[in-house]
Amino acid sequence: MTAAAVIGLQWGDEGKGKIVDCLTADAGAVVRFQGGHNAGHTIVINGETKILHLLPSGAVRPGVECLIGNGVVLSPRALFAEVESFGAGAAEVAARLRLSGACPLLLECHRLLDLAREAARVGGAIGTTGKGIGPAYEDKAARRALRLADVADAAGFAAKLESLAQYHNFMLGNYYQTETWDWRADLDFILSRRDELMQMMCPVPERLAELHRAGANILFEGAQGALLDIDHGTWPFVTSSNTAAGNIACGAGFAARHLGRVAGVVKAYTTRVGNGPFPTELHDDTGRRLAERGGEVGATTGRARRCGWLDSVALRYAADLNGVDTLCLTKLDVLEGIETLRVCTGYKNTRGGGGAPDDCEPEYAELEGWDESIGGVRRYQELPRAVRGYVEWIEERVGVPVSLLSVGPGRDDNIIRSRLFD
Ligand code: IMP
Repeated sequence: MTAAAVIGLQWGDEGKGKIVDCLTADAGAVVRFQGGHNAGHTIVINGETKILHLLPSGAVRPGVECLIGNGVVLSPRALFAEVESFGAGAAEVAARLRLSGACPLLLECHRLLDLAREAARVGGAIGTTGKGIGPAYEDKAARRALRLADVADAAGFAAKLESLAQYHNFMLGNYYQTETWDWRADLDFILSRRDELMQMMCPVPERLAELHRAGANILFEGAQGALLDIDHGTWPFVTSSNTAAGNIACGAGFAARHLGRVAGVVKAYTTRVGNGPFPTELHDDTGRRLAERGGEVGATTGRARRCGWLDSVALRYAADLNGVDTLCLTKLDVLEGIETLRVCTGYKNTRGGGGAPDDCEPEYAELEGWDESIGGVRRYQELPRAVRGYVEWIEERVGVPVSLLSVGPGRDDNIIRSRLFD
């Protein structure tokens, strides 16, 4: 019986989708507790790529229950588009989906506001995914959001939506002088899918308590990464939710003391999409090589990801913040053929701030690289000595063991040293 979490320890895109998919082989339920359809979790099964944005990655494993907690901002359009992307399997996926009635709805007005705010931001754009995540969380904090449970009462929902439109359209039209929100289109869409939404609605905290009591393995799937956490990340270049494991209790309604294990997912190097500090970023051939070999293109927006060396200072900070007790190291195969690897061990001229500080010069340790292809290796001891040296250097630096190494994009391209669930 275990409740475990998978959390990204960098700026997102660490490969959490694949890790969650591996671990769901042993899980009864997978739960999203923050973020929305800004996430892009890529899973490759038998050479076929599936990218999930809003649904828990457990969706690709028939039989696994998929829960979306109150901490997620829920776009009904994104939800149905994603369910329908399963084609013939859509009904089976929908039958396993449980949505908290307390999820704030993410609507078209939030997308319009996101775009307008980014264009007008003093101090430069954040580089958001443009999905409306920030404005949807703003409405939640302001207690004016519509929640999934509001859809139950069609007339009441329509009245609340109209009132929300008056508020946001005033801002969009007068302050931003941009396109206003056709709220009736959202109303029609949501009411046309009302029965399906109501069927999927579920008291998630009660369901989780029930699963926990029954001894089911529950997996909480983090989206984005620790350095994008709204409180503990590289503010203001962050997302609008708490991405850290500490938010599982509030974002899903699951008692904090029942969370047994936290797996931190870390890419063998670092990437970032969007703007903001990135001390170990590379602008040279090595950076371009990482981008190319790693296929570093954003799964949600198609933007090129910025690439750089691993940052052990930021990694230890993120591991401590999340109480990580095991690491999953991804994309190790991408480092093949680099003669000398560098890992940041400290910063000079630091101005401070949460996580990786801005405006500082990194100091590096140099580690031996390797030429051998490791994609086919499945046993740790069979890895070249330099690869093990890299892995063990990270373990020692962060003080946390690496339990899983991903050496390729496929579901089975892993070296598993110990299992997350007992
Ligand atoms: P937002 O979450 O769309 O508001 O974007 C805020 C910041 O988080 C931007 O830098 C985005 O690029 C980044 N971001 C949001 N979701 C993801 C993700 O799933 N992976 C990586 N970066 C993300």
